Amino acid sequence: MSPEPRIAVVGATGAVGRTMLEILAERDFAAREIVPFASERSAGQELPGGLTVRALSEEEIDGFDIALFSAGSGVSREWAPKFAARGAVVVDNSSCWRMDEDVPLVVSEVNPEALDAHRGIIANPNCTAMQALVVLKAISDAVGLERIVFSSYQSTSGTGKAAVDELEAQTEAILHGTEPPAPEVYPHPIAFNVIPQVETFKDGDDYTTEERKVIAESRKILGLPDLAVTCTCVRVPVFTGHSAAIVAEFDRELSVERATEVLSAAPGVVLAELPTPLMAAGGDVAYVGRLRRAQGAPHSLAFFVAGDNLRKGAALNVVQIAEIVAAGRA
Ligand SMILES: NC(=O)c1ccc[n+]([C@@H]2O[C@H](COP(=O)([O-])OP(=O)(O)OC[C@H]3O[C@@H](n4cnc5c(N)ncnc54)[C@H](OP(=O)(O)O)[C@@H]3O)[C@@H](O)[C@H]2O)c1
Repeated sequence: MSPEPRIAVVGATGAVGRTMLEILAERDFAAREIVPFASERSAGQELPGGLTVRALSEEEIDGFDIALFSAGSGVSREWAPKFAARGAVVVDNSSCWRMDEDVPLVVSEVNPEALDAHRGIIANPNCTAMQALVVLKAISDAVGLERIVFSSYQSTSGTGKAAVDELEAQTEAILHGTEPPAPEVYPHPIAFNVIPQVETFKDGDDYTTEERKVIAESRKILGLPDLAVTCTCVRVPVFTGHSAAIVAEFDRELSVERATEVLSAAPGVVLAELPTPLMAAGGDVAYVGRLRRAQGAPHSLAFFVAGDNLRKGAALNVVQIAEIVAAGRA
């Protein structure tokens, strides 16, 4: 790879894509050129930093060293192999390749060694799983992790820009005493509500597709194929920051004191008395707190995690992976 890679950002006008561009700038990522791509609709649009959006086309995708994808699974399925075939290393934010055996699924602090096996495409994990895994990895290195019960509180920016607009419009209407616009993104109004469904129920499954991602990706990233995971993903009227209440069960005793010690030394983790999404939004760490014994289960701990879904949950981890790739360490 050339010392200063040429980088494509695909989905650059979206919630995650914009955050990727911000983080590349914040971290002074040494790039020869950064080229933003989006759909035909956005071609020609000016983005901060004087970047002009291009539409994806066969003619425009040559000569990239790294391509950061965040434009949904359909776009990744079609275009990621094309970028990879032309020599770029793709880091993909969608769920398209995550469970593919040949594609490493990487949280930069948890399993960077998996990057060595990449064949041109690297997958970035689900945003809800990501921040919890930074915490769970640290604990599972100290004792054997056997089971987790995972209940999420997910913000609207996790669905993308249209969902953020829906929460804003409904909230504003209600606060001004007018009829709120009917829900389009979610199955129920999201303002002043809580919806116990994230993504969809597929083929009669009683877990949603989001819950299935948390289950399967946690097992793959932690290297624990038999980990028992019960997961309930819930959408809440928060703009940015996903949280999760987790009960983790181990193969032996782990005291609150020892867990606190382990977590205070874990990279990307900060202990907080009361972690909240507002505290986490705009930052790069997962906050963990409310650490206590779980009742009735001797080898268990309960705790609460909050992180920024657009940053560590998506864009930051992509950029951290790109930094490892650019440094020639993968
Ligand atoms: N939001 C999160 O917290 C989060 C976290 C982890 C992973 N992800 C994943 O990241 C991806 C993007 O999410 P998002 O929240 O940023 O969505 P978003 O705000 O809706 O943005 C979607 C982006 O994809 C572009 N796009 C759509 N169709 C395209 C096409 N045919 N060709 C090229 N570009 C196209 C859009 O361009 P236009 O503006 O031109 O339409 C826009 O830039 C999804 O796969 C999502 O699952 C999101």
